[in-house]
Amino acid sequence: MDWLESRDGILHAEGVALPDIAERFGTPTYVYSRSAIVERWGAFAEATAGRRALVCYALKANSNLAIIDLLARAGAGFDIVSGGELRRVLAAGASPERVVFSGVGKSTAEIELALRVGVRCFNVESESELKWISATAVRNGASAAVSLRVNPDVDARTHPYISTGLRENKFGVAYDQALELYQLAVSLPAIEVVGIDCHIGSQITEIEPFVAALDRLIALVEALEARGIALRHIDLGGGLGIRYDDERPPTPRAMLDAIFARIDASPAVRGLEVLFEFGRAIVGNAGLLLTRVEYLKSNGERRFAIVDAAMNDLMRPALYDAYHRIVEVQPRDTPRQVYDVVGPICESGDWLGRARSLALAEGDLLAILSAGAYAMAMSSNYNTRPRAAEVIVDRETTHLVREREPVESLYALERRLSE
Ligand code: LLP
Repeated sequence: MDWLESRDGILHAEGVALPDIAERFGTPTYVYSRSAIVERWGAFAEATAGRRALVCYALKANSNLAIIDLLARAGAGFDIVSGGELRRVLAAGASPERVVFSGVGKSTAEIELALRVGVRCFNVESESELKWISATAVRNGASAAVSLRVNPDVDARTHPYISTGLRENKFGVAYDQALELYQLAVSLPAIEVVGIDCHIGSQITEIEPFVAALDRLIALVEALEARGIALRHIDLGGGLGIRYDDERPPTPRAMLDAIFARIDASPAVRGLEVLFEFGRAIVGNAGLLLTRVEYLKSNGERRFAIVDAAMNDLMRPALYDAYHRIVEVQPRDTPRQVYDVVGPICESGDWLGRARSLALAEGDLLAILSAGAYAMAMSSNYNTRPRAAEVIVDRETTHLVREREPVESLYALERRLSE
């Protein structure tokens, strides 16, 4: 996270001192770096320069309107998985023509909205969904461009909860049923078959699984060609990992070069437009969660630093046993101690970091790193905790891009019984 720098012993995000952000906006607060997002996007843009390619940003990683807007301005497409995400794309002023709609359970209302605004493509995950999109399009006098999400049965070698390309996962159409389904698709009314896609998982730190999945898709495209079914695009999903600790994921360039080398060598796919759906790799290391130490305590066995952020703000540790680096904002000279960094929620699962060596006093600020993706986006109001504020720093300037939720808003939609 090279947008973080210590100046006079105080951690700065771009040109802004983190204690100033805490002072102005309170804690916990998510802090994102504009330049980090734009630069990371630039790495993908450069790696696809001169090619017929569209890099879509998978909104689920972080769907703040300001981030959608930034990426739309930079030329991104978007990968969405709900009508709500589509509404966000529209609210941010981005074009639905650059949107691909993924997900195993699209509802009728979501399909209708997507048809109405004209998304670029539906990534279809089952025969039932395909037929339903066809029927819905007919009913609405529309036509739906579709791609079949094929499950390539490739091991992404990542956490089982975020591995999606194995036969046993709920995602996509089984590889050996795909040809049949394409044949059905071309026969259905109001369906235009335009592509093929896959997504094998997330936080993948090697190139091989991506290439293995691509090879499986290429074989299918060849078989489709032989049956007279021509496609316009191939979508390889997202999944490129980032560095949380000591992982060494490939750079966007290394990954995309390996993909394009394979594509260029295959006559069946050489002419197709190539789509990607990256989320974490674009925003993951462009954010941190700023939190304050409320209390220090020791139960004899262990020391705890109880902070004002919790599993409702950042649930990745509780859910996946995920590691996020945690650093002091103003490191002290006092000896380090080993702490479990935990939140105030009434569950032992409410931890943010375990056995961290830190020099702390009550009231100190901590930065929980690599929190740009699947952090705020997965937050909840558990324990009636308002969601954190979100800010974007841009050199010396800090923009508030989401206010801290007022507590009353958490129960504003609730009603007491009338009698
Ligand atoms: N496309 C599809 C169809 C997906 O399901 C996903 C992520 C992506 C693209 C973007 O994947 P990325 O490039 O961000 O790896 N909450 C988990 C991650 C879940 C990912 C789900 N699908 C976490 O915190 O690690």
